[in-house]
Amino acid sequence: MVSKVIVKSPSSTANLGPGFDVFGLALDAYYDKIQLEKSNNGIKIQTSDSIPLVPEKNSAGLVVKEMAKKFKIKSGLVLKINKGVPAGFGMGSSAASAAAAAVAFDALFDLNLDAKTLVEFAGMGEKASAGSIHYDNVAAALLGGFVIVRTNPLNIIRIEPPKDLVLCVAIPKLVIPPKKTQVSRGVLPKQIKLSDHVRNLSNAAAMTAGFMKQDTLMIGSSVRDIIVEPARQHMIPGFIQVKENALRAGALGFTISGAGPSVIAFASKTSNVKKICTAMEAGFKSAKTKCQTVICKPSKGTIIL
Ligand code: HSE
Repeated sequence: MVSKVIVKSPSSTANLGPGFDVFGLALDAYYDKIQLEKSNNGIKIQTSDSIPLVPEKNSAGLVVKEMAKKFKIKSGLVLKINKGVPAGFGMGSSAASAAAAAVAFDALFDLNLDAKTLVEFAGMGEKASAGSIHYDNVAAALLGGFVIVRTNPLNIIRIEPPKDLVLCVAIPKLVIPPKKTQVSRGVLPKQIKLSDHVRNLSNAAAMTAGFMKQDTLMIGSSVRDIIVEPARQHMIPGFIQVKENALRAGALGFTISGAGPSVIAFASKTSNVKKICTAMEAGFKSAKTKCQTVICKPSKGTIIL
């Protein structure tokens, strides 16, 4: 049995428009790296990033704590966390750490858990940062590619994205409020119109078909959400302008990345992705907001180094 494991886990985008809490896509943009090592006693977190050091309040720490409890592991553990995924911007930062922690724990103790069980444990980590358990980002970060999350009972369906799918992400330079995900879930409607549900469902179904058929145009044209996006867009300065600019510059689809404030444009290999990024930057500039743009492909998910 090894005494330490190093794992890296990618950023991800959740929802993809109509798939609130259901769709996730791993993004080859940023990675968190985690080293899990056996020690004498307790669970200790070491990091130079400004993240909670108390295991219960840290998405990776909570996963390790829950797994140690479940599998009656008596050994102490040191968790070294190196954050690469920007935290609080809708890029699946807590999910990357949680997924990496679940995979590292599984490998360190030779548990050979199946993917669903690993996603289940990783989902617990979301509670530390988002306040509630949801599996869209953790499933994507863990398994890579495009994922569909079904709950009660939990079931994850993974589909390999088309090779020509390209994503342009714009991360606005904003001060992120504490408990951002809780805040951005708090603005969502408790009830929705049946006709709105029908429209979102039709787009979600078309998006799934787009991934199954490896049809990037169909995926892009299905990124339409008339329920969650309208409720959250006021939290992103210049959102309407950024969206209009991205679509005018040739983006196939556009929406908020996860709970925001990052936004994501869907494109293909033949799109002018630099033009789309410049258009998004100009949109944010019109709202006196700077942003960082990144062009990326889907990621293969969590890997043991
Ligand atoms: N599906 C989640 C949301 C992702 O949009 O609130 C954020 O963690």
